[in-house]
Amino acid sequence: MAIPQTVFSSLLVLLVLLPISHHVDVVAQTVGSTTGLIPVGRSLDAMDNSSIWLSPSGDFAFGFRQLTNTTDFILSIWYDKIPDRTIVWHANGEKLAPLGSKVELTSDRGLLLTDPQGEVLWKSHTMTVVVAYGVMEDTGNFVLEDGSFNKVWESFNNPTDTILPTQTMERGGVISSRKSMTKFSEGRFRLRFLREGNEEGKLVLNTVNLPSTQANDAYYIKGDNVGDSDTSSLGRLLVFNESGYLYILKENGENTTLTEGLLPTAKNFYFRATLNFVGVFTQYYHPRTSIGNESWIPVWSIPDNICTAILRTSTGIGVCGLNSVCKLNQAKRPTCECLKGFSLIDPNDPYGGCKQDYVPRCEEDELRYKKDLYNMEVLRNTFWSSAAYTCLSPFTEGNCKNSCLQDCMCVVAMSVGDYTCLKMMLPLVRGTSNMSTMLGIKTFVKVRKYNLTIPDPYFPIPGNETVGKNQDSLILSGSVLLGCSLLVNFTLVGAIFLSFYRKKVDKTKRNGSVLEMNLRCFSYQELVDATNGFKEELGRGSFGIVYKGAIKASSDNVLVAVKKLNSLAQESEKEFKAEVNIIGKTHHKNLARLIGFCDERQQRLLVYEFLSRGTLACFLFGDSKPNWKRRIQVAFGIARGLLYLHEECSNQIIHCDIKPQNILLDEYFNARISDFGLAKLLKMDQSQTQTTIRGTRGYAAPEWFMNMPNITAKIDVYSFGVVLLEIICCRRNVETDHNCDGEEDKRILTDWGYDCFQGGALDALVDNDREAMNDRRKLERFVKIAIWCIQEDPSLRPSMGKVVQMLEGVVHVPVPPCPSPFTITATS
Ligand SMILES: *[C@@H]1O[C@H](CO)[C@@H](O)[C@H](O)[C@H]1NC(C)=O
Repeated sequence: MAIPQTVFSSLLVLLVLLPISHHVDVVAQTVGSTTGLIPVGRSLDAMDNSSIWLSPSGDFAFGFRQLTNTTDFILSIWYDKIPDRTIVWHANGEKLAPLGSKVELTSDRGLLLTDPQGEVLWKSHTMTVVVAYGVMEDTGNFVLEDGSFNKVWESFNNPTDTILPTQTMERGGVISSRKSMTKFSEGRFRLRFLREGNEEGKLVLNTVNLPSTQANDAYYIKGDNVGDSDTSSLGRLLVFNESGYLYILKENGENTTLTEGLLPTAKNFYFRATLNFVGVFTQYYHPRTSIGNESWIPVWSIPDNICTAILRTSTGIGVCGLNSVCKLNQAKRPTCECLKGFSLIDPNDPYGGCKQDYVPRCEEDELRYKKDLYNMEVLRNTFWSSAAYTCLSPFTEGNCKNSCLQDCMCVVAMSVGDYTCLKMMLPLVRGTSNMSTMLGIKTFVKVRKYNLTIPDPYFPIPGNETVGKNQDSLILSGSVLLGCSLLVNFTLVGAIFLSFYRKKVDKTKRNGSVLEMNLRCFSYQELVDATNGFKEELGRGSFGIVYKGAIKASSDNVLVAVKKLNSLAQESEKEFKAEVNIIGKTHHKNLARLIGFCDERQQRLLVYEFLSRGTLACFLFGDSKPNWKRRIQVAFGIARGLLYLHEECSNQIIHCDIKPQNILLDEYFNARISDFGLAKLLKMDQSQTQTTIRGTRGYAAPEWFMNMPNITAKIDVYSFGVVLLEIICCRRNVETDHNCDGEEDKRILTDWGYDCFQGGALDALVDNDREAMNDRRKLERFVKIAIWCIQEDPSLRPSMGKVVQMLEGVVHVPVPPCPSPFTITATS
């Protein structure tokens, strides 16, 4: 039941609010100097009554702290004058130090932490340096200096989860949350001051997919958008100044304020800002002189409501983990609750997500009446941004509930506005509750009633017939009850659900956020109205024509692109269903997003979000050359989108028709691959029997044209290589008639590109593009990558994972061989 759960979460809240000293026993004694100066050769031992190194004022200490109920120690820096003894920095979160470990200040390797067996647990340096001494400064910074007062290492430059006044962070800096209050290993939240990409110079909060550091979409972003030519407002430095104010210092010397409100004077108060283990970045203050039980007082935190902020993102498991609901408590901290019928994966980790207690078995459903097996629990004002496997509309709440009960695979169904029924896929992600704006949503959770023994499918259960009657009457009374509750809801639904739309649109500034999370079913008439009778054509593809449209959501119009599929052969139905299913499940920031669909008799339409900057083709081959940095960014986006399709989504999707006409750009010039659902879902045995040959001349890999095309992801890698060359050069792969001036050897970019590379004529290749030439190393790297991708032999082409690493410069790019070693490119 829910009671122990609630008690547990309130306990947790209490624990979170309790000062840290209750978790970490401090058995350290003050030794050390009054200057904070530590000569080389000094060491500290991890044990009871261990010595510590104090700053001159005694405000901060460096040393070992023992963790509660363990014999393990963590090397850290803490406030030493206040009872909390709050830790502000730690070294060995991943490898705790057992009793008897030792940290030594060495001249050649800096700080060296070893266990009793002499194995290195942590060290300050990876390279050899010459250290003369260490200093525990009054700011809380531990510094290593060489003989000439040069700082060779600082704890301030290697922050963990906290930053302190006078500490700054350059672009590229990261702060990571801990795993929990008492576990110091890295958790899944990051505060980053970005060095590149769209949000360069901005401060963002995001989750990462542990154990990798791969980042999900940001759930909080602060900073200015920077113009193309004018980068003066780019964020340069994150500053936490002496008076306790946090701000972003911009290139032009102006500030973007972070700390809100006025602070008490730093003379009497300590300040710190910590990314806590539930993902909220909070600034606190604390009186310097303690007379009793003062604790840290929060002044300001971001985001305001992490439970709803996380809905901005389309990737990651959110704050609470899987199958869990996030609620904000009074202290603005998220608390997590498992759905009924689910329990914590790790009973000690309330933020670690939940697993299903009983996984429904369809055989059993066949043998018993479902009403006997399951209760349908109701949750209000709760929302998940997961995908649905089925969308029914129009469909009443009652039908929704019943349909889920009867569907043996259904566990959770969401009825939206008594009109749309979404049967949700498991596991559920990014669930949030208590949103007043979500009153139109009712969630049904199918929970198994009691521990029935699993019946033997070959022996029917006696007394089945009599149960039948009971069931009918139960359904009847059930629907009467539901009807009553519907009346209450009914008047609210219209107003509130629409206001939900509007708020979401305002807040996220993205088109129709509520739409993008789950597919919506449209009637044909709705789409006729939305597109003004299919008036404005945006483009044509092999599968149909795309029209611009607008969907009414309260007073706002959400712009959409409506793709009207050619209604043809019998296959098309299958194709359509396949596309809807696949795309509905596929979310990535570099893929065009499907909002909904219409499937009415012969009319099949897909509704996508409208992307304001049009196709990559228009961007690249338009009148003026787009700038180099932006082009690079687009290339990254396409590569990441493809990587996702090939390697990261649940079913591998091979696009088969990558070309600039199929790549769209959003408002911020993020590349979004479209039409990917039309590619065949790759099933191993099916790969030989592709019915529709797609692929476009100039972009299709050579194996397309062989008799037995072996369709692998390498097909897309080839097309990506071609597109990458086009991005580098801003010209089409195959130049038609004009503007060739008889320069026959330049006609095919893929051939000419290799010739230029081999002849060292990159400037000719980019037509003396100054920006590109100034970034010569990257230019050369990108050309090499493109040539690797267009190798005729598919086995020589790198995977998209490798391509992304090479683009990022993480791995070395060797000199590529000639792409077509067996063809003589004689064009005369
Ligand atoms: C710190 O920043 C605040 C806000 O920008 C400013 O008012 C204050 O004077 C600064 N303090 C110092 C010591 O620079």
